[in-house]
Amino acid sequence: MRAPAFAAALALASPALALEALVERRQAGMKDMDDAMKALGAVRIGVLPYSPALVSRAAGALEAGAEAMRLQFPPGSEGGKAAALLWEDRARFDAMTDDLAAAAARLAAAEGEAAALEAAERVAETCVACHEPFRRR
Ligand code: HEC
Repeated sequence: MRAPAFAAALALASPALALEALVERRQAGMKDMDDAMKALGAVRIGVLPYSPALVSRAAGALEAGAEAMRLQFPPGSEGGKAAALLWEDRARFDAMTDDLAAAAARLAAAEGEAAALEAAERVAETCVACHEPFRRR
């Protein structure tokens, strides 16, 4: 992952700028996952046709997002819309990141439309489960 190295390099120039860049990066990562979920939602309501390629792309984006998240909330990066609780209850946050990664892996392995949509539901539950305590509205 390039995020920490990138942030570290920027931190030498300006800690405030580094934090801003990291927050922007993690928010962009969340938006990529949101796009993946929207594509799956479009399949669910019949706006997009089901295809294994679409599901595989979405699952890949979610797995990459979960992986990136492990590095994008280091100590001292309080900011954005993340709740302060995240840095106080780190173990719970990390466990929820693992839940997302596991659900994304099950989506990647799902065969057929019904199984994929079912797996997508489970992914969506992990988004909500973490946003509830750890994202400020
Ligand atoms: C383990 C916790 C966790 C999981 C799982 C998680 N998120 Fe987030 N999400 C956050 C936090 C924390 C923020 C606030 C980040 C910030 O502003 O720095 C956030 C912010 C967002 C945002 C707003 C980004 C912005 O521009 O402000 C979107 C959209 C989002 N998440 C979508 C998703 C989707 C879709 C999923 C599931 C596929 C997901 N998230 C899973 C913790 C999580």
